[in-house]
Amino acid sequence: MMPFNNLGFVFKHFGSLVYSKEVLEDLCLFLKPFSNEESVLDVGAGTGVMSEFAYRCNGALKFTAVDPAEGMLKYAPEYLETHVGTAEALPFENDSFDAVFMGESLHHFHDIDAALAEVVRVLKDDGRLFIYDFDRGTFLGKCVCFMERVFGEPANFYEPSVLKEELESHGFSVTVMKHGWRYTVSASL
Ligand SMILES: C[S@@+](CC[C@H](N)C(=O)[O-])C[C@H]1O[C@@H](n2cnc3c(N)ncnc32)[C@H](O)[C@@H]1O
Repeated sequence: MMPFNNLGFVFKHFGSLVYSKEVLEDLCLFLKPFSNEESVLDVGAGTGVMSEFAYRCNGALKFTAVDPAEGMLKYAPEYLETHVGTAEALPFENDSFDAVFMGESLHHFHDIDAALAEVVRVLKDDGRLFIYDFDRGTFLGKCVCFMERVFGEPANFYEPSVLKEELESHGFSVTVMKHGWRYTVSASL
């Protein structure tokens, strides 16, 4: 397993390097329809890298983060309300959030179906989901997948078309944006 509890300093200072300009543009576009004060949940937030980028797009949103690794969460910015927990058992009431983010975290979840069911549960009726991850159908995606398996991670990487079908089976309408070996998903219930 990756020792995320001890990697907070690394992700705080270098985690943003994994995000490309195109991914950040997609994130801002995703957030464009949101009015102020809407609530967003960053699942597998780590130190809050994706929330920090989202904050630059719209700093008036109410930001919440969940992650099993306290050693990551302790580096989160102060506007991010942090909770220790997993995607498979989110510690929130039904219909709590307008949007959920997953920034290169989905592939770490052990049970993707359980995690997506939890996302649907905590999202409001017209809630939205933004995912950023690596395409296992590409050479670099395969390399990352191999490395993560070496570390004993679940390495649940998808080809975007397969993730699209998985999300649709949970009731989402899905738009995929491919950027080389990386991709984003904007989905809505
Ligand atoms: C590669 S880091 C990404 C962190 C952050 N989202 C970012 O973009 O920098 C993956 C994160 O997923 C978290 N994680 C691992 N298993 C998880 C699970 N079952 N549920 C939620 N988060 C999990 C890890 O603790 C870690 O913080």
